[in-house]
Amino acid sequence: PHGAISIKEGREEKFVEIDPGLCRGCGLCYSACPSKAIEFANLEDYQLIKMAEVAFKNLSSGKPRILAFLCYWCAYGAADLMGINGEKLPENFRTIRIRCSASLSLDVISEILERDLADGIIVAGCPVDNCHHIWGNYMQERRIEMLNESLEMFGVRDKMVKWEYIGVPSWKKLA
Ligand code: FES
Repeated sequence: PHGAISIKEGREEKFVEIDPGLCRGCGLCYSACPSKAIEFANLEDYQLIKMAEVAFKNLSSGKPRILAFLCYWCAYGAADLMGINGEKLPENFRTIRIRCSASLSLDVISEILERDLADGIIVAGCPVDNCHHIWGNYMQERRIEMLNESLEMFGVRDKMVKWEYIGVPSWKKLA
């Protein structure tokens, strides 16, 4: 979104160049790169999976485990406001703070569902026209739509992945 990645003409073949001066660390390229050629310091897929593995460790059984991945600019702020406003979090709800919502790869969501680490996943990003990385939120909404279409095609009906646009003042929506 910030023009940090460009494809250049080499002498024999094209190559990719990343300009660190333009990179803002949204993580969109990290989650999209099919060959996992990009590193994303402190928020690598395996680290998110580790957090998901322990998220519901002490939850008494019988309740659906809802895991929310919240963009740190907006949706996570809304979760903070929930607390400040005295909204009690249900014990079966856990949040993981991510960078732009688009930094979350579908591989992470798929692995969580496949390994039965959660029953439902919410991914929330900044409101329309407010993504701090221009169109990361639109991109992630579309990806999740595609994921849900695939899940349906494969007959997965007992798991849910939900996308939401949530700004900081919209903490009631998150609640
Ligand atoms: Fe919040 Fe992109 S920065 S969704």
